[in-house]
Amino acid sequence: MCGIIGYLGSRLAIPVLLEGLYAQEYRGYDSAGIATIEEGRLNIYKSTGKIAELDKKIGGQYGSATAGIGHTRWATHGKPSDINCHPHVDCRQKIALVHNGIIENYQEVKAALQDQGHHFLSDTDTEVLPHLLEQYYQGDLLAAMQEACGHVKGFYAMLALCLEEPRRIVAARLDNPLIIGIGQGEYYFASDMSALIDYTREMIILQNGDIADVSDQGVVIYNQGQKVERSVKHIDWDKEAAKKGGYPHFMLKEIHEQPKVLAQTMQGRLQEDCRRVDLNELALQKQDLQNIDQIAIVACGTAYHAGLIGKQVIEKLLRMPVMVELASEFIHNDPLIDQHTLGVVISQSGETMDTLAALRVFRENGAKVLAICNVVDSTIAREADQVLYTMAGPEIAVASTKAYSSQLMLLYMLAFHLAQILQRHSDEQLNVWLKAMYQLPQLAAALLAENEETIKTLAKTISDWQDAFFIGRGLDYAVAQEGALKLKEISYIHAEAYAAGELKHGTIALITPKVPVIALATQEPLLKMMVSNIVELKTRGAYVIALTRGAAPEVEHVADAVIHLPETDELLTPVLSVIPLQLLAYYAALYRDCDIDQPRNLAKSVTVP
Ligand code: M6R
Repeated sequence: MCGIIGYLGSRLAIPVLLEGLYAQEYRGYDSAGIATIEEGRLNIYKSTGKIAELDKKIGGQYGSATAGIGHTRWATHGKPSDINCHPHVDCRQKIALVHNGIIENYQEVKAALQDQGHHFLSDTDTEVLPHLLEQYYQGDLLAAMQEACGHVKGFYAMLALCLEEPRRIVAARLDNPLIIGIGQGEYYFASDMSALIDYTREMIILQNGDIADVSDQGVVIYNQGQKVERSVKHIDWDKEAAKKGGYPHFMLKEIHEQPKVLAQTMQGRLQEDCRRVDLNELALQKQDLQNIDQIAIVACGTAYHAGLIGKQVIEKLLRMPVMVELASEFIHNDPLIDQHTLGVVISQSGETMDTLAALRVFRENGAKVLAICNVVDSTIAREADQVLYTMAGPEIAVASTKAYSSQLMLLYMLAFHLAQILQRHSDEQLNVWLKAMYQLPQLAAALLAENEETIKTLAKTISDWQDAFFIGRGLDYAVAQEGALKLKEISYIHAEAYAAGELKHGTIALITPKVPVIALATQEPLLKMMVSNIVELKTRGAYVIALTRGAAPEVEHVADAVIHLPETDELLTPVLSVIPLQLLAYYAALYRDCDIDQPRNLAKSVTVP
């Protein structure tokens, strides 16, 4: 959600800035802009729509500027337009600024600045920032930034550039990510590490309240007016991981990466003989667990859907109550949590604002928090008491796929790990589950190899639908919710998930001839009931695609089409059953000619509430 880029060095700034903006396209945006300083004036380039439009406007006229800032804007305050697009400038066009986040008290700050004679052009909250800098500027951009930050409420990552100090960029961060990349006598800034990896692997991750003064002399960081040291981290990512690698879309690549990602997430955490899970990174002892009377899982979107599976699995294995809540609801609901609660927050990006707020609610209520994150050193990872990293690598497509399956994997391992500590199951039983878990990467690979063509054909049918229903019971219902989200977010087909047992309590009124239903029927004890549900739907004319674990003649007999998953323990089936649903959504969106990796109105990481 919004992307920041900046450069100070000896290369031409504009191509670096454009490349950095392209690399962050997936964050979601509706306009883009750049500011550089050249020949004693600020040059601002802006465009609504795609970065390619901005690139076209610039038309290869890169000038000679070697410092600049850029931004992709996801509109919050004010519609997408050139006026509302960043960078924003002060009255005298001497200071340019780009910002992610929201300035919550912008109306009162704006009114006070207007009283002082400042003239505003846009509808944005951001525009108060360059005017505040102008107000406090007395030849020192750092001092102006320090003063300005004291007058705003809300959250931000921002970069400022000033005509009078052309070899200086000042950066500030509060609750929105901002990274400084260190090159040879050059400095890069971005919201995301993946935007910088082609230039440098040495990065400083700014922390909350940091203000960084970056010039040809180096980087100096302050927090609450005091100089602070921040370590330079070497980022080990495979450069290719953030590229499409021959696939037409990141989403398809990431779906296909799942076998590898599942294996990576288990690596070093599952003993070779499948007798134990070792989550050595957790410092949870038996006495800590005995002090806990409930687990509360909180997350958003797909990560929340992973939490729904986590709840069922942990409750089954530990017989301990697990609450699972949407972060945006949890934070306002005065949740029943205390020091006897173990909070678990799940987030791919580690920057989702509501999930971060939930983490803080846990802490305020005395609960310890365990984070399941993908992005190393992200805000959530840093603020949690303990963190388990999903080893999914960079996930670029807005629709989460491999992050979800690696989150599931970690939730299973967490459940097994806790069950071991509390000695809830026999070694033999654990060994059966762990052996089945060890097989999952191989089964996922087989599933992809054997079913993709069939799924493609089914997706062609789905692509003509206006609506789709996903139904299931138990674990299948949780996966159905993820399947419906995938379909709606990238193909724009209206999709809803229902607990199959709830159909007769209302939803079945919507079933008329040819209404499409995707029925998940992978759980043996629930199979008979699922078959009855499918028959009831067929009686009313629905078109039913069923998902079964191995052969299930009773389902084949009643459904219009069946996708067979490889056989595995039914507890672990969600890791496999989501894959066909991801592929169905992908190919349906492809047939509908949708912008798969960057669906409309969506951002990869939601950094505003
Ligand atoms: O980065 P996070 O895991 O915290 O993101 C949570 C959701 O915003 C995310 O899963 C979203 O629902 C995806 N678009 C789903 O594909």
